[in-house]
Amino acid sequence: MASSSQKKAKRVLIASSHALFARGLSSLLQSRQQKDVEVVGVVSSVEQAILQIEKLSPDLIVVDYDDESLNRDEFLARFVEGEKRLRVVLLSLHDGEQALVYDRRMLAAAQVDDWLEEWSRSRQDEYSMVQPEQRISKNDNRSDNMRHFITAGILVAVVTALLIVGLGQVRLLPVAASAQAQPIDFLFNLQFQIIAFLFALIVVSMVYSIIVFRRKPGDTSDARHIEGNTNLEVAWTIVPLFVVMGLAVLGSDGLAKTTRAEPRALEVNVIGQQWSWRFEYPELGIVTDVMRLPVNKQALLHLSSIDVIHSFWVPEFRVKQDALPGGEEFVRDLRVTPSMTGNFKVRCAELCGLRHAYMENDVIVMSQEEFDAWVAEEQGLAADPVERGRKWYTTYGCNACHSLDGTPGVGPSWQGIYGAQHKLADGTTVLVDDAYLYQSIRNPASQIVEGYNNLMPANIAEKMTDQQVDDIIRLIESLK
Ligand code: CUA
Repeated sequence: MASSSQKKAKRVLIASSHALFARGLSSLLQSRQQKDVEVVGVVSSVEQAILQIEKLSPDLIVVDYDDESLNRDEFLARFVEGEKRLRVVLLSLHDGEQALVYDRRMLAAAQVDDWLEEWSRSRQDEYSMVQPEQRISKNDNRSDNMRHFITAGILVAVVTALLIVGLGQVRLLPVAASAQAQPIDFLFNLQFQIIAFLFALIVVSMVYSIIVFRRKPGDTSDARHIEGNTNLEVAWTIVPLFVVMGLAVLGSDGLAKTTRAEPRALEVNVIGQQWSWRFEYPELGIVTDVMRLPVNKQALLHLSSIDVIHSFWVPEFRVKQDALPGGEEFVRDLRVTPSMTGNFKVRCAELCGLRHAYMENDVIVMSQEEFDAWVAEEQGLAADPVERGRKWYTTYGCNACHSLDGTPGVGPSWQGIYGAQHKLADGTTVLVDDAYLYQSIRNPASQIVEGYNNLMPANIAEKMTDQQVDDIIRLIESLK
């Protein structure tokens, strides 16, 4: 049968018990201009088909897929897989406008088009029930694909470049003011560029596909069925693996650079508390609430907390480290080498309670000469106890909760309380004098003023000398 001459009309046998189907298909095939198809008969069962095949020797059997009374599996078994190897197609008209042709293995709907294309290619000189636009030659496909890849590739490159330039205009980070900022910014920018490329790759491919490969009006065909692409899958596993390993190498290099220790670093104990910072210079005997650092000299910060977890962060320095409660063994070190003079601010980067957002202290980076002058001034302390008290008031963070001018805060204002009668939460009344204030500072929980909660850290005065406590009491007395 396959050897029949090209000129000779192909003989088609129709299998359907519906007269309308047979008649319609017959006239459709007969109306072809080439006159290369001849409908040789109509049968309604396998048995009849066998009889007719002997008589009519058809080249193709078209089986009505929608005819429930026909056993199409039997057709396939007998004529395709069986001893009589004949081409059989299943034809369904349920789609409405178009005929759908299913192959002998009953492919899923999505696979039918692929099969049809293959079938039409292998029998190009023969009649076909395939929609003409589906019969694209492989070469056209390939050059078309290349054109899409090149266009999309150029778009990805352009969008990546625009994103990198555009994001460069946004000030994501403040000025870099430490030696440690350089490797951090390098890695930050590199990752941003990689992210810009990945964003462009994904979004451009998606938008390009949505626009270029959208369904055209009137097209009701299924999409091409794609099984997979091993090369592509191997590539998109291996390439990111190497990219991530490269980033890991750069990351460890950056970590080594930001933690590199210099000899003779300036040591500063940084103590966080709700809600302020205190800075102690153990080698200089200075305690302050404003951190002063000489420029271009490494500072070794020993971070700790007296209450909850805080996190020390000066954005311009980039590096960040938690300040943990729990004593000596929880002290964490952080090295900063300021590279620029100026005024900055510490920010607490760990949610730590009511006034977390205001836990900012000044950081002043100054020249070595200015720093030395400041140290000399600090070491010759003021002689007035009220002035000293005013200093401890900020140094120990009392100002976070207590005002000096009557402004209500988390704790009672200190204005006018000395010598007054205080009503306590337990209903008793107490005279505010030296003894009461000393007790309240050393042991805050012992007496709570009515209308306030006990928010004062229990060990807030642990580091205060009795002299410093007395200075604070003199300050409060001066605010009568
Ligand atoms: Cu301390 Cu947030």
